[in-house]
Amino acid sequence: MVENKKIIIAIDGFSSCGKSTMAKELAKRLGYIYVDSGAMYRAITLYCLEHGLITGEVVDQVALEKALPTISITFKLNRNGLPETYLDGKNVEREIRTMAVSDKVSQVSAIPFVRKALVSLQQALGKEKGIVMDGRDIGTTVFPDAELKIFVTASPEVRALRRCEELAAKGAEVSFQTVLENVKKRDYIDQHREESPLVMAKDAVLLDNSTLSIEQQNEWLYNKYREVVSK
Ligand code: DC
Repeated sequence: MVENKKIIIAIDGFSSCGKSTMAKELAKRLGYIYVDSGAMYRAITLYCLEHGLITGEVVDQVALEKALPTISITFKLNRNGLPETYLDGKNVEREIRTMAVSDKVSQVSAIPFVRKALVSLQQALGKEKGIVMDGRDIGTTVFPDAELKIFVTASPEVRALRRCEELAAKGAEVSFQTVLENVKKRDYIDQHREESPLVMAKDAVLLDNSTLSIEQQNEWLYNKYREVVSK
């Protein structure tokens, strides 16, 4: 049966374009593990902020490199079966989504030794396959042999609006303009960094979901999965 064939599904793309929504839903439907690789970069960024390792735009790389092997990032399922991020044993799911972290995460994730450590961790999580992972370099660097690769995009305005709604739902009122600037700034840094910049893998399928509903994009993704496993 095709359902028994476990594969790796890599979902990359720009920030706030709904990657995690579709990745989570597909993982649930297939009984796969879901990993939000961005949450790992966010957790390291939170660690830096909590330990005074960021001044303005500058990260204290010497101190971070020393601390990195001691930092633990894990995921645990909550009551609704959704994974939440733990930093050194503490649930930080809410803290890692704040604007303070969003504002610095691209700088932290551009550091080569941070990427090296997190890529190893991500590869270990996918050893048994049966995983959906979203991020920026999953199809290009983490799992270049993934059986299904998707590259998601939507206009910066649509993505900023979605992020504003997400923040508002959590009680954080942030102006559209502030969020739009953050989205554009992160796009730029993510695409122009030296180490694993955000690019579409040659064998990825492009999805522009600017005009799709969540249900439509979930169906689209599930159909792509079916195409791959029934080959
Ligand atoms: O998906 P997100 O917006 O939560 O990701 C946060 C940041 O982490 C994003 O600006 C870039 C970085 N990131 C990365 O460099 N590589 C990944 N695989 C995932 C995220």
